[in-house]
Amino acid sequence: MADVILSPVEISQTLSLGPWPPEPEPDKSNRVSGSRAAIALGEDLFTDPILSKDASLACSSCHDPAQGFTVPVSRAVGREILDRNSPSVVNLGGLRWFGWGGKSDNLWAASLHPIVAEQEMAHSAQSLQTALSASRHAVAYEAIFGPIDQQSPEAVLVNTAKTLAAYQEVLVTLPTTFDTFRDALEQRDHVAAGRYSESAQRGLQIFLGKGNCIMCHSGPRFSNNEFHDAGVPYFIDETSVDTGRFGGLNILLASPYTLAGAWSDDETKHGAWAVQNVRQTHANFGTFRTPSLRGAADTAPYMHDGSLPDLTAVVRHYNEINLERMHADGEAILQPLNLSEAEISDLVAFLETLSEVPN
Ligand code: HEC
Ligand code: HEC
Repeated sequence: MADVILSPVEISQTLSLGPWPPEPEPDKSNRVSGSRAAIALGEDLFTDPILSKDASLACSSCHDPAQGFTVPVSRAVGREILDRNSPSVVNLGGLRWFGWGGKSDNLWAASLHPIVAEQEMAHSAQSLQTALSASRHAVAYEAIFGPIDQQSPEAVLVNTAKTLAAYQEVLVTLPTTFDTFRDALEQRDHVAAGRYSESAQRGLQIFLGKGNCIMCHSGPRFSNNEFHDAGVPYFIDETSVDTGRFGGLNILLASPYTLAGAWSDDETKHGAWAVQNVRQTHANFGTFRTPSLRGAADTAPYMHDGSLPDLTAVVRHYNEINLERMHADGEAILQPLNLSEAEISDLVAFLETLSEVPN
């Protein structure tokens, strides 16, 4: 049994990191969001290699439900080795940007990209339509959307992606040991709060205080859902770089599959202001979306390129951050932290409680 060692200010900052889970919000841009039949079809399709042209890859090849909806390799392996790590696809409902570089502003577009990407599943809309209409999924598809053969190939592609989105929306991580602590603080139940280890509490203090982690990893998702340079080298190899948000905006601004486009089912175009107002600037270069930290203990390796093998390595990265390597403008937030070994292990202990489900 530990004491609660947080100050009143730290307690109120801690309350801002919950409650969890958030209220589910239906995605108005996806007319099958929340539909049981679409969720079931999306779940079934997610593990079926029929979504790749040569039937070699399923969504689950890179987002394995048994491994936290990612796979433990640095860079994803499609038809070739990709530039980036596969993110987990949990807790995505209600986000504004998707992908490390934010190339999509909605979940169905983020689910559509891999199906047609040449390095990933390499379907054309036409080959997907042919494969689906000959498959065991045709009946379920037609029960939701009507006869496949009377739809344009592009409509079939978008509808398929919308079922995958409906499924992924319901993937939400369970409340953790951290949430039990946070809720006990809210109820002023210091006996229950005292069950949270002192090491994790000290780590939380660093997270809120001198680590300044909460600056970007904020709110119940532990992400401000914006783009930053966290000091990870952006070289892919000796000759090429991952431009992050800069390249993501190129794709986003050219995409027909945004909240502003004709494929959105929301007549009011709610949320479309974001894509209509983003502008590419030099400061976007080499920035990546702040990932959520919920469930992160189960999804090594870390960062957009999977270059850090475990949470201790991530904390050491921030502790010794190389400011010479920072390339985006205006990232004056990160500074070397000079944490002791004991503080490093406290911060890791705290991060682990964001994945630990109480029994
Ligand atoms: C070859 C591996 C691979 C396959 C197959 C794959 N993905 Fe991904 N997925 C990735 C990578 C890598 C990213 C990061 C892409 C980026 O940053 O733009 C990603 C990103 C995503 C995202 C955005 C997640 C976020 O945090 O913003 C979603 C959603 C997603 N994939 C869903 C799917 C679905 C649905 C399928 C099947 C149709 C699929 N993926 C197939 C590797 C893969
Ligand atoms: C300036 C904003 C910012 C601050 C401050 C910050 N982070 Fe991050 N964090 C990011 C971004 C952006 C990434 C992804 C970077 C990349 O892939 O290039 C990231 C990645 C991570 C990851 C890897 C998650 C994954 O799934 O790959 C962890 C863990 C993490 N940060 C923890 C922390 C901790 C602990 C602190 C405080 C010591 C901290 N962050 C401070 C923005 C920030």
